[in-house]
Amino acid sequence: MGTAAGDAAVPEPRTSLIADVRALVGDFVCHGGRRLAAAVALMLAGGVLEGVGLALLVPIFSLLAPQTGGRWRAMMVEALASVGLVSQLTQLAAVLLVFCLLVGLRAVVLATRDRLVSDLTLGFVDHRRLMLVTDLARARWSALARLRHARIGHILSSEIARLALACSMLLTIMMAAIMLVTQAILMLLLSPVIALLTIGLALLGLALLVPLSRRAATVGTSSARFAFRIAGEAAQFLGGLKIAIAHDMADAFVAQIAQESGHLRAQLDAQRRFQSRVSIASASVASLVGAALIFGAVMLDVPTVTLLAALVVLVRMSGPVRSLQQSTQQLFGVLPAFTALRALKADLGDPVTASPDATMGSVRHGPLRFEQVTFRYPDALAPVFTGLDFTIGVGEMVGLSGPSGTGKTSVVDLLTGLLEPTAGRIMIGDAVLDPAMLAGWRRRLAYVPQDSYLINDSLRRNLTWGSAVRADADLWQALAQAGAADMVAAMPGGLETRVDERGTRLSGGERQRIALARAILRDPDLLILDEATNAIDVATERAVIANLRRALPRTTILIVAHREETLRACDRVIALETFRPAEIHSTAPD
Ligand SMILES: Nc1ncnc2c1ncn2[C@@H]1O[C@H](COP(=O)(O)OP(=O)(O)OP(=O)(O)O)[C@@H](O)[C@H]1O
Ligand SMILES: [Mg+2]
Repeated sequence: MGTAAGDAAVPEPRTSLIADVRALVGDFVCHGGRRLAAAVALMLAGGVLEGVGLALLVPIFSLLAPQTGGRWRAMMVEALASVGLVSQLTQLAAVLLVFCLLVGLRAVVLATRDRLVSDLTLGFVDHRRLMLVTDLARARWSALARLRHARIGHILSSEIARLALACSMLLTIMMAAIMLVTQAILMLLLSPVIALLTIGLALLGLALLVPLSRRAATVGTSSARFAFRIAGEAAQFLGGLKIAIAHDMADAFVAQIAQESGHLRAQLDAQRRFQSRVSIASASVASLVGAALIFGAVMLDVPTVTLLAALVVLVRMSGPVRSLQQSTQQLFGVLPAFTALRALKADLGDPVTASPDATMGSVRHGPLRFEQVTFRYPDALAPVFTGLDFTIGVGEMVGLSGPSGTGKTSVVDLLTGLLEPTAGRIMIGDAVLDPAMLAGWRRRLAYVPQDSYLINDSLRRNLTWGSAVRADADLWQALAQAGAADMVAAMPGGLETRVDERGTRLSGGERQRIALARAILRDPDLLILDEATNAIDVATERAVIANLRRALPRTTILIVAHREETLRACDRVIALETFRPAEIHSTAPD
């Protein structure tokens, strides 16, 4: 239960923070398109309405306190009188009415903006999740086989949720920035002196955000790593549950999780303490800035009305400033989720390109031919086999034999297109097996691996998984051919019996017979059994193989087996050790 692999699974930030933010913004903008433009327009409208509303404070103040008026009051009174509003009360009522209308309009604009923003975020996250799942589904087997399942599960659940948070932080930053810009413009109109002082101080505050964000990103990355380790440990423990409990490793598992949880909590605690120190410091600095501004304005003889309005604007600005600061820190804290998503996409590599006309009928049933096929795993020193050359006719039942490690499963993986030959080619009838015909070809084959895969559902769902057959009579017939009908009939739930996680409710041989029945239901052109009957007793296996032959007369059947009895049931046997490269024979231990 080591954690070394877990460290590698959550990548260290390889790119700079700025590059990650730029990539996230780029993706988000690309996906948002016109709706994002509409949201930004609404943000601007909200900012302008807020600005105009705040600007109305000047006439309201000057009408309430005529002695503080100055040129603002004179302009106001003159404008209102020209539309027939002469008494102070009617003038105040008119200005207040406009103010209320603006506030109402602003509320409508902001609500629409928020709905759009939430739609955008959810849409983007859905899109990225689907993109990732599609990439996973289309990835090359060689790339996929190397990935840890826990890493994929973690990214599809926790990291995707953090990505949603990153997007809403991004939009909050955008909204806060737009608000601040409109408020700064208003401030410039009210009093350039106060505005310039405020902008200078704000820029100083923004410069402080850089180290804060860097720290948030570091904490975000290491929290993700600890959270991932917990998920990884749990997946590992559950994957080998039986042996872990039998070896009394449950306590070690709990201790490991407790240790990782402790690390995670310490990280989050440190971050919370740091953030509360930042909040205290910002509040103190903000009050000092306000005091300095009042003092400065009085020294510079700024009119009282202007000063009051400027102070209201300043107070209003504190909201977006706080939101800008907190959202930026939070964004950098959750940004590693996006980095993890990008790293996984990179590790998945280029997808297998499927032919658009790869339909069921486009692959013609024909003999299978390996023509001088050599195969070497990308990181292996020597090929598994060289010059593998054989033909299997339509409807033949052929055995594939060879000591462990000679490449039998590799041959199967080449046949199912999970791997590609390093040299030579594989023919299906007259067509070369290439990525373009893979989808069509895979629909025509059935593959039963040694470790039969059952899903945690009913026997019925397990049988119909991957085939179009639904009728009970067909299911029972396939079960009978696989030698499993009596066994299922004796179960209390019959076809509705649940098999539990990976079929733990069944014995090894029972699992294999259900997997065989499922393969029969696909009515394939090629049936591959990779040690798929080795847990069944010899007599039942012989009967099952005879049944297979009768049930699927036109199907080519390839049986990988070690057992002599199994190989004897085949029309002929291909011995794989003949194709091992000479250097492997010579370096093999005596
Ligand atoms: N992903 C991989 N990367 C590198 N080498 C691999 C990989 N998978 C298998 N091999 C190696 O390729 C060789 C052939 O493996 P393969 O699984 O095809 O053997 P096999 O004949 O099916 O063995 P067994 O009878 O034990 O199932 C082995 O030496 C194995 O270690
Ligand atoms: Mg094998």
